[in-house]
Amino acid sequence: MRDESTPGTEVAGSVEKRYDPLAVLISGRGSNLKALIDARLTTPISVVISNRADAAGLEHARAAGIETLVLSHRDHASRDAYDRVLVDALRARGVGLVCLAGFMRLLGPTFCDAFRMATVNIHPSLLPAFPGVDAQAQAVVHGVKVAGATVHFVTPDLDAGPIISQRAVAVEDDDTPETLAARILAVEHALYPDTVRRLLTESWTVHGRRVVFARPA
Ligand code: GRF
Repeated sequence: MRDESTPGTEVAGSVEKRYDPLAVLISGRGSNLKALIDARLTTPISVVISNRADAAGLEHARAAGIETLVLSHRDHASRDAYDRVLVDALRARGVGLVCLAGFMRLLGPTFCDAFRMATVNIHPSLLPAFPGVDAQAQAVVHGVKVAGATVHFVTPDLDAGPIISQRAVAVEDDDTPETLAARILAVEHALYPDTVRRLLTESWTVHGRRVVFARPA
């Protein structure tokens, strides 16, 4: 498995590095987008981009007066070409941190290099368990007793970038993928804004795969 974060490579982030606006990328419902909007982070969300015109989540952005942009992957011949269009749109708006919230497209090296350790995603499992789609169903089928949610930096490898935060959710004997997903989603809605807020306001470093927040002085 390829990993863009070379062990020993240090990437520092801190309060001193004032983040320029956030962007949120979605493909569907957008409940995590809404949680990020409702958190009223000190750094504004300047644009919400969807690869689907019918993404219900776009309404949350419109209701909050945030610019929306539909950039369909279908209009571009390759992943690389689509990555470039996304990067151009984000750069044109001076975006400093990109939050994926149910964005169902893989981002390649062109995007990940442009926003290295500046793109985060939330995934409904305790990674590295159950990457990819239907993580909650994978957890139920596998019979794990503890599931959860993970916020991680995005690299070209699916759901495999350095882990920033995780929160556990107990799996009950009578859980279905749907009931487990609902409890994980409630946790996501707290974990994602909390984690983005920490990235924006605390000092942190990435050592290899380990994301370390500085202890408050
Ligand atoms: C969430 O479960 C998130 O973890 C995953 O996709 C889902 C998106 O849901 N990456 P929503 O669009 O934020 O409601």
